[in-house]
Amino acid sequence: MIQSLNSTLRRVPAWPLYIVGLAPLLWLVWLLSTGGLGVDPVKALEQNLGDTGLKLIIAGLAVTPLRKYAGLNLIKFRRALGLLAFLYVTLHLTVWLVLDIQLRWGEIWTDITKRPYITIGMAGFAMLLPLAITSNNYSVRKLGAATWRKLHWLTYPAALAGAIHYVMVVKGWQITPMIYFAVVAQLLLMRVKLSRGRMLARFAPDSR
Ligand code: HEM
Repeated sequence: MIQSLNSTLRRVPAWPLYIVGLAPLLWLVWLLSTGGLGVDPVKALEQNLGDTGLKLIIAGLAVTPLRKYAGLNLIKFRRALGLLAFLYVTLHLTVWLVLDIQLRWGEIWTDITKRPYITIGMAGFAMLLPLAITSNNYSVRKLGAATWRKLHWLTYPAALAGAIHYVMVVKGWQITPMIYFAVVAQLLLMRVKLSRGRMLARFAPDSR
């Protein structure tokens, strides 16, 4: 079953994922232009973009454990997931800067330094930035695969920052942000386990 799914997916190019991934954005633009975003469209837009960004970061993080534990190979879609996540988070930040806080730089700086959920969100964005910049084949070649892979570990703290930011944004203890946080923490744990397993295998006496 998984093998036939993998061989079907091998024949599917990655580019249609960009179109599918842009659909929620087009839907949001449509809602915005037709007044379908409710009484506070800026807030709704900001929330939707942040939500989609976090979902896509999580989808990207799930690729490796899905291959390892379920045998499902989605590696070739990972770059598209990462770039789409970056796009949504960048738009989320842009809506905050331009529509919410309206480029009042003094206030922006105060919020970044004094509001912990903004500080953490900004840290998440800062970690996604080098990942997006180096997500091309030229950077992989230039940095070398090992350095590139090390750099891309930043996805985990970035996802963690995004999930903590979400927990802090909402009032009180709400279940949805907790679920996101638990999923990110679980994916991080699985990744640490996988890396430890690989390291132990490399240094095991019978592997030489
Ligand atoms: C990794 C980066 C980030 C992720 C994954 C992320 C994700 C999210 C999520 C999921 C929400 C809650 C949406 C909801 O209530 O359904 C949110 C809210 C929010 N985020 Fe972010 N965010 C990130 C970075 C940022 C940055 C850099 C800023 C601005 C400096 C920011 C500003 C906000 C604001 C103001 C809200 C509250 C919106 C409201 O309810 O009024 N976020 N974000």
